[in-house]
Amino acid sequence: MMMNTQALLSLTLALLFAGAHAATITFTNKCPYTVWPGTLTADQQPQLSTTGFELASQASSSVTTPVPWKGRFWGRTGCSTDASGRFSCATAECNSGQVTCNGNGAVPPATLVEINIAANGGQDFYDVSLVDGFNLPVSVSPQGGTGDCKTSTCPANVNAACPAELQVTGAGGVIACKSACTAFNQPQYCCTGQYNQPSTCPPTNYSQIFENQCPLAYSYAYDDVNSTFTCSGGPNYVITFCPPN
Ligand SMILES: *[C@@H]1O[C@H](CO)[C@@H](O)[C@H](O)[C@H]1NC(C)=O
Ligand SMILES: *[C@@H]1O[C@H](CO)[C@@H](O)[C@H](O)[C@H]1NC(C)=O
Repeated sequence: MMMNTQALLSLTLALLFAGAHAATITFTNKCPYTVWPGTLTADQQPQLSTTGFELASQASSSVTTPVPWKGRFWGRTGCSTDASGRFSCATAECNSGQVTCNGNGAVPPATLVEINIAANGGQDFYDVSLVDGFNLPVSVSPQGGTGDCKTSTCPANVNAACPAELQVTGAGGVIACKSACTAFNQPQYCCTGQYNQPSTCPPTNYSQIFENQCPLAYSYAYDDVNSTFTCSGGPNYVITFCPPN
């Protein structure tokens, strides 16, 4: 059966449109060590084509997301496979026992990249978040797009400034820094109970440490608006581990 010209044209346009409706996320590892990125799609939507992989120092690798899409990315460190074949990591572990996280998120502390692509059919929202603590420096930069499209970054080694009561130690010293919420589980740090609004959950001496180290990242649940990043027009993203400081 032959398609008429109009049907063929709309099919072509539909394919072009579908092709344009994917975002490429490129991971680049500038750390002097291997990082194992993890990916998690939110809201019970299908996971991406990879939920975890190994990224050697100086290597890059890309994954595409459908549009709209919402989820998070992080980098695991100090990973290895034991004699029984179980894979595990010293930081940002996802407890799958494998390199792929298979729908599991990162166990805090973990520096997170959160991306919400074409939220409500419009703008993208994205940030580097220290709300679940810090394990390694990360940035997220839109490529192309229109509007603000600023880089959100935590380029500092927060582990070096981490107070004793928040430290996670391992081989080589402090390997991660807990959020005060994770460490103390108290409402004034977790912004829960009577502290569950921006007006009643001000920064604390602990969130201020994260804010001072990385002002262009989200330091706690109700951080100031200048830590919210937006971009329109369907940008791609580059996520860099150990970005230039
Ligand atoms: C933060 O404040 C709490 C409560 O006032 C105090 O116990 C703690 O020592 C302070 N920690 C730092 C790192 O300033
Ligand atoms: C973010 O806003 C706060 C006040 O809400 C200000 O003190 C801080 O300097 C701002 N940081 C940046 C990087 O603009």
